[in-house]
Formats: sequence, structure tokens, C-alpha cells
Amino acid sequence: MNVSSLTASPSSVRTDLIAVYSFQDKKSLADLSALSGRHKVRDFSGKEGEMLLLYGEEKSSPRYLFVGAGASGSFSIEKLRRASAAIAKKCNSLHLQSAAILFPELETMLSATTADIAAAITEGCLLSLYKFDKYFTVEKKKPAFKEIIIVTAKKNMEKDIRSGITKAAALCAGTIHARDLTNAPSNEIYPDTLAKNIRKTGRALNFSVQVYDKKKIRSLGLGGVIGVSKGSTNDPRFILLEYGKQFKKSGTIALVGKGVTFDTGGISIKPAAGMAEMKMDMGGAAAVVGTFHSVAALGLRKHLIGVIPAVENMPSGSAIKPGDVIIHYNGKTSEVDNTDAEGRLILADALSYVSRYSPDVVIDLATLTGACVVALGHHATGMMGNDQPTMDALIIAGNNTYERVWQLPLFEEYEKQIKSDIADVKNVGGRWAGAITAGLFLKKFIGTYKWVHLDIAGTAMLEEHQEYIPRGGSGVGVRLLTDFIANWKK
Ligand code: BES
Ligand code: MN
Ligand code: ZN
Repeated sequence: MNVSSLTASPSSVRTDLIAVYSFQDKKSLADLSALSGRHKVRDFSGKEGEMLLLYGEEKSSPRYLFVGAGASGSFSIEKLRRASAAIAKKCNSLHLQSAAILFPELETMLSATTADIAAAITEGCLLSLYKFDKYFTVEKKKPAFKEIIIVTAKKNMEKDIRSGITKAAALCAGTIHARDLTNAPSNEIYPDTLAKNIRKTGRALNFSVQVYDKKKIRSLGLGGVIGVSKGSTNDPRFILLEYGKQFKKSGTIALVGKGVTFDTGGISIKPAAGMAEMKMDMGGAAAVVGTFHSVAALGLRKHLIGVIPAVENMPSGSAIKPGDVIIHYNGKTSEVDNTDAEGRLILADALSYVSRYSPDVVIDLATLTGACVVALGHHATGMMGNDQPTMDALIIAGNNTYERVWQLPLFEEYEKQIKSDIADVKNVGGRWAGAITAGLFLKKFIGTYKWVHLDIAGTAMLEEHQEYIPRGGSGVGVRLLTDFIANWKK
């Protein structure tokens, strides 16, 4: 799929379809009547989700697609993404090749720039057409919908529209990369192949990647990574990414991503039903990779570190067992009460290891707890941390991108739930406030930096599709973090 821009009058554009956003108000509907010529417009009021398709006299004339945008007073950038997604999906299902979208001049209404509007249109189109279809061999692929042209009659707008498209295309490329990694089955993406994928991306986009193998991981004393990976014949990897070293003077942001390429639960094994979903337990790692992808593609002038502990959590004769004690990178110990609470064990090492880089701020992303899904479902990422201004900035980035975050408290009263009789901390905290006790476990391993933990268990993997996110891996975190990073100042 390609999105481009063109200055032209709508009637002169040669495409299969011309799409127009239509509001519920009179003016918008009058414009519609004018455009539709001799055709009568009925049963279309411009409500959100409505669509009207009109055909011209001749076989070669383009279709007109009117897309309901709802009441103009409550329109938003997110509704624009969704309406654009509806256009792209409609064109795709009609097996068209190309379509034009009339650029909606909503700058004042949305208090947004021309570039913001073009970016939202582009995101809605590119993200909604994603499909993880590489493993289909029998189902014939129909010729795909290839081209969207954003059309404006005003020459002076084209430059801004183009810059919005370029920016959004970079964000979408990172998001789609994250989706591909998340959706890949565990026989394709396991620690070694995850590392190779990241190496390749680093080469293509000019960021550096270092990969530590089991021997190096052991010698560094990353006890959580070694412990969790012990049950698997696929060895762990500890993957380090670095971008924009030349911008170090203005501060360092580090991203840490949970990279459990499959989570069976280990000896504390999970039930069979739904276990396949746990191929997506590296959604945090995918978000980190996708963010590096987008940030590098955009050429942001920021120094970024990425740390990805990658393991497979398997039950076997060599696996870690309930009651075992792990010595982590910073020397602190944890009692493994449940081998299914493995994410925090590898993140503990990564969060203490990242201190080596003296980061100003560290954000970790992890499909960490079912409890977070119970609390927030699929529409908000759980957020915890030790620095309110950083969390406030993430709330803003979440609203900008609609990858929204919601803060949970790290009150010290919850801490007694993870007290261990034999080690510094226990890896499970009982039934209540599971997302919070997981956050408090991580907090024991952070350094002196500002830290935010994002529990993406509910948002990284979707059981049901959303407007521009198909079922499965969502790529959540990439647009959120890229927006946060772009606006971050030390
Ligand atoms: N990867 C899971 C969390 C998860 C659950 C992610 C559902 C996405 C959807 C994690 O490793 C896990 O198993 N957590 C346990 C922790 C418990 C043993 C304290 C959980 O949430 O049940
Ligand atoms: Mn688990
Ligand atoms: Zn897990």
C-alpha cells in the first residue's frame, strides 16, 4: 500500500473511487447532493459508520464513496483515523486498485495542523489493511488494493500533506514490524531468530545491535534470564540496541521489552485452552523493535537504548521449579513461587543491567499480567512508575496516538504481598492487584533513573479486531513511544 498526495480538482483524478468525509450537518449533505449530480441521496445521514457508494453514468467513471463522519462538533483525529480505515477496507473488499480521498480541511475544527490530518488519514489506511497472511498457500490472493491519493485543490497545502504522510508511513512501518514479530509463531520467532531479525533491522536502518548468547548471559550474572530459559532447548539471547549516540548530550531514553517468545507457564503450566496466544508474549520486545524502526526511519535526534531479554518459558527436566531462588544481575534474590510469573524475572535483570548506560528515563513494556487485562480490558495499557511528569507525558502521547495508558498506583502497602520467607522478594503476590504487585516486583530492580512500566497484556494482543487493528498482535507501543520520544526533553 502506498499513500501519496496530489494537487488537482477531484473530477480530474483518475482512480477507481473518490472518497469524501461527510458530516451529519446540512452543509455537508448539501455538498454531497451537489457532487452526486442527478442521483438522489437517500438513507444516508452522515452518521459515524455509515457509507454511501454512488456510481456514475459511464462504466469508466469513478465511484463516489461518502463516509459518515458523525456530528462535526464531536469529530476528532481518532475518528478521522477510523473513517479512513473504513475507506481503505471498503476499497479493499471491492478489489479496487486505487482511490482518491478528498483532503478534509478540518484544521480549525480539530485544532490540528494540515500534516496531522494527513497523518491520521494515512495511519487509518495503512494500519487497517494489515494482514498476517504469509503462511497461506492455498487461499488465492486477490490483486491487492495498492494506492491511496490524498487530493487537495490547494497547491500550498501539498507540502504539509506530504510531510504528514511521510511521518505516518514511518510510524506505520514500525507498528507493522511489531505486529509481524508478535503474530509470528514460536517456531519462526524464538530468541535466536528474534535477535537475527533485530540485527537485520539495525543494519537496514542504521542503529547498532549487540546480541549476547547463553554463555555471555551466564557470565554477566543475568540469573533471571538463565533461570527462565533453562527448560527450553532454544537458548536465551540478551539483545542490546542503540540509536543516535551522537545525541547523548541531550539525554538518554532506554526501552526495555519483555521477549518471552513462548510462555507455556513452565512447570506451573498453563491450561491448554488459549495457550497458542502465548506466542505473543514478546509483544513488549516487538514494541521496542518497532519503536527503533520508526524512530530511525524518522531520523529523530534522540539517544535511545533498547534492552530485550529473550527466552522461551518451557517445562522440562531442566526447567526452573517453584521454590527455586534466583540471583539477579544486581545481586538481589527472588523466590520463584510460580514459574508462570516469568516476565518479571527476566525484566529484573534487564532493568538493573540498563543502569550501565546511565539513562535519564527507562520505559519497560511487557505483556506481564492477566490481572491487567481483567482491570483494563483491551482499550488501555496499565501504567506504573516513579516519576509523575514522565507518566503525564505518556498520558499525552497516549491521547495523541490513541494508544492510551491508564495509571495504577504503586502504594507501598501492596508490597507485603510479595514478601518472601527466604529471598529478597517473591515473584507472585496472590490474587489481588496482580498488575500492581508485578509492578512493585520490578521496582525492586530499577536503578536511580526515572522509570515507567507499561503492562500491555491487554493491548498487545487482541481477541477481537478494532477499527484499524486486526485481531492478533496490535503493535501497540510503537506510535505511543515514538510520539513520547519525539516530544521528550531531559
Ligand atoms: N504472559 C503472561 C501474562 C498474560 C496473560 C499476557 C494473558 C497476556 C494475556 C504472564 O507471564 C503470566 O503468565 N502471568 C501470570 C502471573 C501469575 C502467575 C502471578 C498471570 O497473569 O496469570
Ligand atoms: Mn507466564
Ligand atoms: Zn508471560
